Amino acid sequence: MKIAMVGSGYVGLVSGACFADFGHDVVCIDKDQSKIDRLNDGVMPIYEPGLGALVGGNVKAGRLSFTTDLAEGIRGASAIFIAVGTPSRRGDGHADLSFVHTVAREIGEHLSNDAVVVTKSTVPVGTGDEVERILADSGTQHRFAVVSNPEFLREGAAIGDFKRPDRIVIGAEDEFGRQIMQQVYRPLFLNESPILFTSRRSAEIIKYAANAFLATKITFINEIADLCEKVGGDVQDVARGIGLDGRIGKKFLHAGPGYGGSCFPKDTLALLKTAEDHESPLRIVEAVSKVNDSRKRAMGRKVVEALGGSDAARGKRVAMLGLTFKPNTDDMRDSPAIAIAQTLDDAGISVSAFDPEGMELARPLMPKVDMVGDPYAAIEGADAIVIVTEWDAFRALDLDRVKALAKAPVLVDLRNIYKAHEMRSAGFAYTSIGRP
Ligand code: UDX
Repeated sequence: MKIAMVGSGYVGLVSGACFADFGHDVVCIDKDQSKIDRLNDGVMPIYEPGLGALVGGNVKAGRLSFTTDLAEGIRGASAIFIAVGTPSRRGDGHADLSFVHTVAREIGEHLSNDAVVVTKSTVPVGTGDEVERILADSGTQHRFAVVSNPEFLREGAAIGDFKRPDRIVIGAEDEFGRQIMQQVYRPLFLNESPILFTSRRSAEIIKYAANAFLATKITFINEIADLCEKVGGDVQDVARGIGLDGRIGKKFLHAGPGYGGSCFPKDTLALLKTAEDHESPLRIVEAVSKVNDSRKRAMGRKVVEALGGSDAARGKRVAMLGLTFKPNTDDMRDSPAIAIAQTLDDAGISVSAFDPEGMELARPLMPKVDMVGDPYAAIEGADAIVIVTEWDAFRALDLDRVKALAKAPVLVDLRNIYKAHEMRSAGFAYTSIGRP
C-alpha cells in the first residue's frame, strides 16, 4: 500500500519511517526544502534514538522517500496522513489549524485517486468535519473519507511507542475509511495491539483527554510532593503506595519540576479553549495548567533557598545539569529549565549549563546562560548544582570530583535521581522533590 505523510516533523517522520518498516511504500512530504534535502542526505532533523538507522534502512530498501512536491507525493496513495504542526495560536491559546487547513486544500486540489485522508496532528474536536468540508469544496471527483488517528508516541521512545502501542485509535465515519485503516495497521492487528474504532469526534477528544489526564496525574503527584516536604513524608513511597492500586496505576507518578514538551502544555490549553467555547468548563484541567505553570518558577526559588535565600544568593553561580524537558530528546519546548533560568537571573544569579543534546536549541531561549561542553565544566566554581533533566549521564556523576570542583557541595535534585542519605554521607547539602 502507498502511504503519503504530509509534514515531516516529529510525528510525521517517525510514523512514516515506521509504516515503511511495516512494508508499506511511504513518501514523506514537507514544505521545508532544506529539511527534505537533509533527509535525502540521511541527516535527521531531530534527535530521536534509533531514527537515523530506521530511516536509512527503509530508504535503502526503496520503501521510504522524501519530497517537497505534494501533488507528486500523494499520487497513488491510498492513505494520506496530515501530520503538520498545530501550535498554540498567539494571543488566545487555541490550536492554530492554519497548516492543517492549507494542507487539506492542497490535497483536495491534487487528489488523483480515491484515498483516505487521515488527521494525525492533534486537532480539536470537529476538525475532521472541517477537513471533510474543505475536500468536498475542492470539487474533487475522487472518493475520499476523512479519518482521525491520533498519535500517542512519546519523544525519546517514539519508535518503540509507535510499533508497540498501548492502543491504536481510529475515528472513522464509514466503511471505506475503516477498511483502509485496517490495511495501514495490519501488522499491528496481527500483533494483537488493541485497536479501537470510534466516531471521528470521539477519536479527536480521546487524544486531548489522554494528554490532559496524564498532565493531571503528574500535577497531582507534584502537589503531593510539596505536601510531603512540609509534613515530612517521602513522595516516592507515596507514589508507590498509591500506584500499586490497579485503578490508579504506577506510571506517571514521578514528582519533578513540572511537565513541559511539545504536547502537554499546548494541548491542555487548546482543550480548555474548546471547553470554554462550548460552555462546558474543565475546572480540573484549568487548575492543572495553572499549577504547572507556577511550579516551574517555584523550582527556581527552590534553588535560591538552597543558596541561603535571596540576599545570600545574589551574585552567586549555579550549574544547571540538563535543559531539555526530558531526557533522550533535544526538544526545549516549554522546558522547566527556561523558567528556572529566568528566575535565577531575576535573583541576580548566573548560570552555567550542560545538556547532552539540547544546548543548540536552548541557546536562543536562554541567552544569558553560559553553555559548556560537559557537566564538570559547568560545576567548576559553582555555588550550587541543580539537576533539571534526568539524563543517564547525570546519574553516576563522580561525586568526589564534583565536590572538588564546586565552590560549595550544594545539590538540588529536581528529578530525585540520587538517594538523600547517600548524598548526605558523601558530604552534600542535598535537596530533592518531596523527600525528607
Ligand atoms: C506526551 C505523551 O506522553 C504522549 O502520549 C503524547 O503523544 C505527546 O505528549 P512527550 O511530550 O514526548 O509525550 O513526553 P512525556 O514522556 O509524556 O513527558 C511529558 C512531561 O511530563 C515531561 O516534561 C516529563 O518530565 C514530565 N513527567 C512525565 C513528569 O514530570 N513525571 C512523570 O511521571 C511523567
